[in-house]
Amino acid sequence: MIFASILAGGSGSRMGSTEKPKQFLQLGNKPILIHTIEKFILNSNFDEVIVLTPKNWINHTEDLIEKHIPGEKVTVIESGELRIDTVKKAIDYINENYDCEDNIIVTHDAVRPFVTHRIIEENIEAARKHGACNTIIPATDTIVRSSEGEFVDEIPDRSEMYQGQTPQSFNVDILNELLERLTDEERESLTDACKVFTLNNVPVAIVEGEVSNIKITYPHDLKVANFILSE
Ligand code: CTP
Repeated sequence: MIFASILAGGSGSRMGSTEKPKQFLQLGNKPILIHTIEKFILNSNFDEVIVLTPKNWINHTEDLIEKHIPGEKVTVIESGELRIDTVKKAIDYINENYDCEDNIIVTHDAVRPFVTHRIIEENIEAARKHGACNTIIPATDTIVRSSEGEFVDEIPDRSEMYQGQTPQSFNVDILNELLERLTDEERESLTDACKVFTLNNVPVAIVEGEVSNIKITYPHDLKVANFILSE
């Protein structure tokens, strides 16, 4: 079976919105989260679309789904403290509710509303074939590494550098096994589910992303998103 899990458990502190987390902010005529959910509902491969939000936003999320996409089967469950915990909660939900092997989970940031059908399709295919995949685009800026933030330690060859996007998609059993092996320290240092695979030398296939598949992080990104939407 194939599951979409929309990660909407963040607080959006860099957006500076105190009223609500950024995934609930309006983009055009509906909340960012609804735009994102719609992309997954339109893909008939998914057996279930799971949205993960903080506990006190679950009712609000269900109301938004009822208002904007009535009749669509979307399950809303509680997210985790860290992003990786939110991914684990989605996996636990699948394992508790479905008793079958070789399930695929497509995990996607709620705040990347411009994901395309092609990217989702290629994620499903790559996760089926390779067990894990990451959506990435070539780095446009030169990437500079600095451990302390005061001096430059390293300037890696740009032709080998990429920027990670989402979706990131996995075989549920493999991801679950690797997550359960993590120490607390490793778990806390993980901002990216694919890193669980690379830490264990398990290959992660590449799906080509899109420059337009932006993550809405800062207020400026929301302006860019409104522009993309108006195009
Ligand atoms: N996310 C999540 N669960 C968490 C943290 C983040 O599901 N515990 C989700 C966010 O809702 C978002 C995506 O992961 O859709 C990417 O998160 P990011 O924008 O990097 O983090 P936020 O916590 O949302 O924002 P900030 O870092 O600015 O506080």
